[in-house]
Amino acid sequence: MNGAKAHQKTALLTGASSGIGKAAALALMDAGYSVVGTSRSAAPGEVRDGIRMIACDVTSDESVAAAVALAHGELGHIDLLVNNAGFGVTGASEESSITQVHSLFETNYYGVVRVTNAVLPIMRKQGSGRILNVGSALGFIPAPYSAHYSATKHAVEGYSESLDHEVREFGVRVAVIEPAATRTSFESSNIPADTQVPVYNASRAKYLAAFGRSMSVADTAENVAETIVLAAGAKAPLLRYPSGKAARQVAFARRFLPRTLFDKILHKQFGLA
Ligand SMILES: NC(=O)c1ccc[n+]([C@@H]2O[C@H](COP(=O)([O-])OP(=O)(O)OC[C@H]3O[C@@H](n4cnc5c(N)ncnc54)[C@H](OP(=O)(O)O)[C@@H]3O)[C@@H](O)[C@H]2O)c1
Repeated sequence: MNGAKAHQKTALLTGASSGIGKAAALALMDAGYSVVGTSRSAAPGEVRDGIRMIACDVTSDESVAAAVALAHGELGHIDLLVNNAGFGVTGASEESSITQVHSLFETNYYGVVRVTNAVLPIMRKQGSGRILNVGSALGFIPAPYSAHYSATKHAVEGYSESLDHEVREFGVRVAVIEPAATRTSFESSNIPADTQVPVYNASRAKYLAAFGRSMSVADTAENVAETIVLAAGAKAPLLRYPSGKAARQVAFARRFLPRTLFDKILHKQFGLA
């Protein structure tokens, strides 16, 4: 390893093939980081859209162990881990089977834990590192018709805050990036609940219409990428980074509005009974 490479900041990002992960990978490269991104479909040695990609399925222990070892070998050290891979499931909570809920947690929560557990020994040994977990505004507010997705993101919040206390003594800090609706392939990759209970048809349709409307005026992936670069470089990182105006407004409302008023606004926004 040459001297220049030894001092260049490095980053590993999961889910860098599209949306927020891809925008963040490019923004971090612009900010001077040497970056490796992951996708389930990456071919060996692939460079996609200028990003060095390696194959990783965050639902597999073996795949994660191999990907982290490869990334570590390529980068020399890992200063920044961005746990970004994730997807959504939409529908009333009782419309999802336990199998489906499990698969959602497998990526959105256990995937974060899996990759973090593989990277932490490297960061502890370095005596430094930063882990940014891409949560969501739905990690701190309720999300009717996305209850299980919201639950995965609430889990990421609790995990991140707890972990941050444990690893601080090793020079490692953990933060959560909290985007609100962001225009990516997220909406099209969103999976409907695997059964339908007809009594929810009317409300589910209203929710989906509201979801579509919020997506049409949503932030861009580049907006969230800016927040990720900010959190990556912060000397004294915050625990939570609501990303964009909408997320900051919701965070403020959640914190300071009386619960009954917050409930009313939420119901009105989604046209719920
Ligand atoms: N868009 C929004 O409105 C929004 C709002 C708040 C939070 N978020 C969060 O932001 C993150 C990124 O989402 P996005 O909006 O950028 O969506 P996206 O464009 O659909 O990107 C999702 C990424 O996750 C990867 N991925 C999915 N399952 C994976 C698995 N099992 N193993 C490895 N990679 C996997 C995909 O990679 P491959 O398919 O190539 O493997 C893809 O790169 C997610 O955690 C999401 O929950 C999104």
